[in-house]
Amino acid sequence: MTDDRKLRVSKIRNGTVIDHITGGQALNVLAILGIDGTSGDSVSVAMNMPSDRLGKKDIVKVEGRELSQDEVDVLSLIAPAASINIVREFEVVEKARVERPSMVEGVLECPNHNCISTEDEPVQSRFAVVDDGVRCEYCDTIIRDDLPAHILAE
Ligand code: CTP
Ligand code: ZN
Repeated sequence: MTDDRKLRVSKIRNGTVIDHITGGQALNVLAILGIDGTSGDSVSVAMNMPSDRLGKKDIVKVEGRELSQDEVDVLSLIAPAASINIVREFEVVEKARVERPSMVEGVLECPNHNCISTEDEPVQSRFAVVDDGVRCEYCDTIIRDDLPAHILAE
C-alpha cells in the first residue's frame, strides 16, 4: 500500500501520541486526560485500527500537551499495552511503554460517599492497585469494573 493510502491521522508537531491503546478505549483515555475538546487544542482519535500486536488498537494524538505520571498510571489500567510517544518538532523524542503502578493518586474518585477522600477536605484520593481492581487506601472500597466511570472530573 502506498503511504498516501495508509496514512489516516496526520502527524503532530509538538505533543503526545498515545499508541497501542486497547481497541475501543480511546474515549476513556480522553476522559482520563480530561480532554473534552473545549480547550481548543487539536486532538486526533483513531479507533479500531488494525494492529499486528493487538488485533485492533486505538490511537490518541494530543497537540501541545504532555502527560503527568498520575495520568499515565491510570491509563495503564485500561490500556496496559499503550506506548507514550513525546513529539517535539515532528520527531519522537521519547517513547515509553506504560507500566502497571502499585498505586494511583488523585485521578479516580472513591464510590463511597462517606469516604474521607470524597468530602470537602484537601485529601487526595489514593487507590492501591490489586489483582481484581483498585482499593481505596482510606475506606478499602474496591473498584472492580468500569474504572472510567470513576475518573474525577477536572
Ligand atoms: N507520530 C505522530 N507525529 C509525529 C511523529 C510520530 O503522530 N510527528 C506517531 C506515529 O504515527 C506513530 C507514533 O507516533 O503512531 C509513534 O511513532 P514512531 O515511533 O515513529 O512509530 P513506530 O516506530 O511505528 O512506533 P512503535 O515502534 O511504537 O510501534
Ligand atoms: Zn474510599
